[in-house]
Amino acid sequence: TILGIDIGTSAVKLVLVDEAERVIAERDAPLAVSRPRPSWSEQDPLDWWRAVGDLLDGLKRDEAAALAAVGAIGLSGQMHGAVLLGDDDAPLRPAMLWNDGRAAAEARALRASHPHLPAVVGVLPMAGFTGPKIPWLAAHEPDVLARLRTVMMPKDYVRLLLTGEKATDMSDAAGTWWLDEARREWSAEAAEATRLPKSALPRLLESPQPAGALLPELAARWGMGRGVVVAAGAGDAAAGAIGIGSVADGDAFLSLGTSGQLFVTTSHYRPAPETAVHAFAHALPGLWFQMGAMLNGASCLAFAAGLMRAEIETLLAEAERGFAGPSRLIFLPYLTGERTPHDDPHARGVLFGLTPDTTRAEVMQAVLEGVAFSFADARDALAASGTRIGRAAVIGGGARSAFWMRILASVLGVTLARYQGGAKGPAFGAARLGRLALTGEDPARLCAKPAILDETAPDPALHAAYAPRLDAYRRLYAALHPEFR
Ligand code: XUL
Repeated sequence: TILGIDIGTSAVKLVLVDEAERVIAERDAPLAVSRPRPSWSEQDPLDWWRAVGDLLDGLKRDEAAALAAVGAIGLSGQMHGAVLLGDDDAPLRPAMLWNDGRAAAEARALRASHPHLPAVVGVLPMAGFTGPKIPWLAAHEPDVLARLRTVMMPKDYVRLLLTGEKATDMSDAAGTWWLDEARREWSAEAAEATRLPKSALPRLLESPQPAGALLPELAARWGMGRGVVVAAGAGDAAAGAIGIGSVADGDAFLSLGTSGQLFVTTSHYRPAPETAVHAFAHALPGLWFQMGAMLNGASCLAFAAGLMRAEIETLLAEAERGFAGPSRLIFLPYLTGERTPHDDPHARGVLFGLTPDTTRAEVMQAVLEGVAFSFADARDALAASGTRIGRAAVIGGGARSAFWMRILASVLGVTLARYQGGAKGPAFGAARLGRLALTGEDPARLCAKPAILDETAPDPALHAAYAPRLDAYRRLYAALHPEFR
């Protein structure tokens, strides 16, 4: 059996799969995000490790035989975070996450000082990326920077504790702003631009390569055998792609997790930084991807549900029951700012058009539509880079709602397909990478697309009705842009 572990933002997710890729067990442990100041977003790396430990302790109780048969572990995780380690390899401060906007000024300065680097590292410098966080430290926490020995991504810290090895993989390195995406090696110039000593960067591996073995004391704790291989693994975007079998040129999918992504696999490196599209190394050698990356995906549903003190499912059902075409409300989903297409860490959420008779069902519908509009912006950013999408898969927790599929398909004018296990997303892809590290089999064969559950075609009348609402959504952002500073 193979274990896939995804270090997400809202939860650590774990799947145990057998030889036929049947899921034997899946477990989640929730994680909290701390926001000690406006636009900050942090987690304690030890919270990830405690969650992994608790989940595996639980599996040892319930699934001891399957756990004892584990041959490999694959890792996936939230991208772009900065886990900052000192001499003793302990975290120097809480990790600054992908949706942390504090390094806005540093990102702007990099854009002005190194205008040619975005084409090399795949994307404009944006506040949430690892790179700009280093000059922020220099300005605000120089003592931390002085003690910094190694910087790594969230899942790589979990790997360090699992195996004692410091390493990362191409697809997660891709989101640091330090990877030369075309050559698949660290860019000395990008490291230098952010004043990061190159010695702080971990060893780079391709995602299916073995990165080390599970430490004997941990194998004993969980009743696992000797020499369990830990694969390099992948950033959650690319791990999701591996899980859904998005490994051929043009394969597209939407990911509806805490964040939102519109992901297209490409057989070449296709940078288009001016569109705010991200062009990154994929989790298989010789592949890349383009991605519209939105900071606020299914997390907006959880936000609305929390505010209205109701379950997401209840609100979805109410919204579906009351649905009679586009809502009169417009929701801008930019709760933590936005990357594609705006590169605007200062943008904020907006609910526009409230009247005395507005219901919570309408608010929920507006939230579903607002996130869908943000995907339409990503679709157009990709189109501006020369990439068109006719059909796409959908993965992530948000894929559970058939009602949202209907709205998304009609707003985007794209047929959407849901796959068996699609809601498991990156953890399943991580398990596939674990298996590749163990067996060395042909990735193209292993990374098949799962069975299709259903397809949702755009409704032409609804697509036409949404067009003017999408225009209004865009005008609203443009009008409010100066207010977000
Ligand atoms: C991708 C991105 C998210 C995070 C968290 O650019 O920011 O995928 O990895 O899920």
